[in-house]
Amino acid sequence: MSNRTVHTVGIVMNGVTGRMGFNQHLKRSILAIMQQGGVRLSESEFIMPKPLLVGRNAAKLEAISKECGGLEWSTDVNKALDDPQYSVYFDAQTTDRRAEAVKAAIARGKNVYCEKPTADNLEVAYDLYQVAKKAGIKHGVVQDKLWLPGLLKLKTLRDTGFFGEILSVRGEFGYWVFEGDTVSAQRPSWNYRKEDGGGVIIDMLCHWRYVLDNLFGEVKGVSCLGATHVKKRWNEAGQPYDCTADDSAYSTFELASGVIAHFNSSWCVRVRRDDLLTLQVDGTRGSAVAGLRECWVQPYGATPRPTWNPDVESPFQYNDDWQKVPAQETYDNAFKRQWELYLKHIVKGGPFAWDLLEGAKGVQLAEKGIESWQKRCWVDVPELKG
Ligand SMILES: NC(=O)c1ccc[n+]([C@@H]2O[C@H](COP(=O)([O-])OP(=O)(O)OC[C@H]3O[C@@H](n4cnc5c(N)ncnc54)[C@H](O)[C@@H]3O)[C@@H](O)[C@H]2O)c1
Repeated sequence: MSNRTVHTVGIVMNGVTGRMGFNQHLKRSILAIMQQGGVRLSESEFIMPKPLLVGRNAAKLEAISKECGGLEWSTDVNKALDDPQYSVYFDAQTTDRRAEAVKAAIARGKNVYCEKPTADNLEVAYDLYQVAKKAGIKHGVVQDKLWLPGLLKLKTLRDTGFFGEILSVRGEFGYWVFEGDTVSAQRPSWNYRKEDGGGVIIDMLCHWRYVLDNLFGEVKGVSCLGATHVKKRWNEAGQPYDCTADDSAYSTFELASGVIAHFNSSWCVRVRRDDLLTLQVDGTRGSAVAGLRECWVQPYGATPRPTWNPDVESPFQYNDDWQKVPAQETYDNAFKRQWELYLKHIVKGGPFAWDLLEGAKGVQLAEKGIESWQKRCWVDVPELKG
């Protein structure tokens, strides 16, 4: 007789008809976990997620359910929230709908896990954290970049002392998002409308907050200049619309560790670099450049000594002077890894660091970035207390 223990965790999943909800959270995380036989806690103990897909559009939900092997689905979110089989509510709806929906789930005693940003302003995001804390439920916010292979390699380099003293971090994020008239757009149109919760600052500074806080030091100040470079785009129905949200942000961050970080975030830039996101870290003993998956290093002893002379061909092939960091572990989908940790937290308790307070910190940095842009000055980022 088998002595296998399986903990079933019911999850009401809202927003699975969207880009992130479907691809990253349902297919590459929850379904992948189900297909691998659950989250393994030991030889004989596993966690098996049991999703219930919810949303407005029955036809879309039915099609997704079918594609994923016949998952439960419903257009009645309230009924789903009242069903005791489901202890977790997950939200990947558009940002402007998040806080209200998550709060409603908390009010029904659900544990919650959700996409970032947790709200479009700090007051609401911090209140959401307080509500969750008071209710005593388990909460988590997606901070996927922390589990990207490239960033995990950077973390290992940091932990082994490769950099010496870290001086600065340069983040370059972006790619050309098509306007939608000739070539179809790769992102939803609400991203380019402020009134619908769009904007690259609210979208990306949330990410940079947890990346910086976790890898290089707590963010203490921000200077940010935003821009709406592309003024007109075409929506999902082929209709033109005016872009009211920022599509590019040029931001500098001061960290408590003394490290200076500068990130360019743009949906109007063409890629001539290793990846859609690259992070260059320069330290007294060595430097590294990480992309989404790979990471390249140049230690002090292998640093070339260029001199400035534009009158002759460069004797250096600068890219050749870097060494690729080998894969020292196997890397899984970043969203899936965080889901597995969250599910363990649900079943076994124990700390889970990436919660609604951390989510609120991301929103805080975005809000301070926007304030800096509006006031054209540096803005302090005060500590958010738990
Ligand atoms: N972690 C990351 O790297 C990452 C990347 C991109 C987006 N996101 C976040 O994920 C969220 C979703 O982004 P997306 O790109 O998947 O957007 P999307 O437009 O593709 O999906 C939005 C989802 O919300 C639902 N929705 C929208 N309006 C609704 C309404 N009025 N009533 C009910 N449901 C509604 C849609 O049906 C869809 O399921 C956003 O908050 C975004 O900031 C996170």
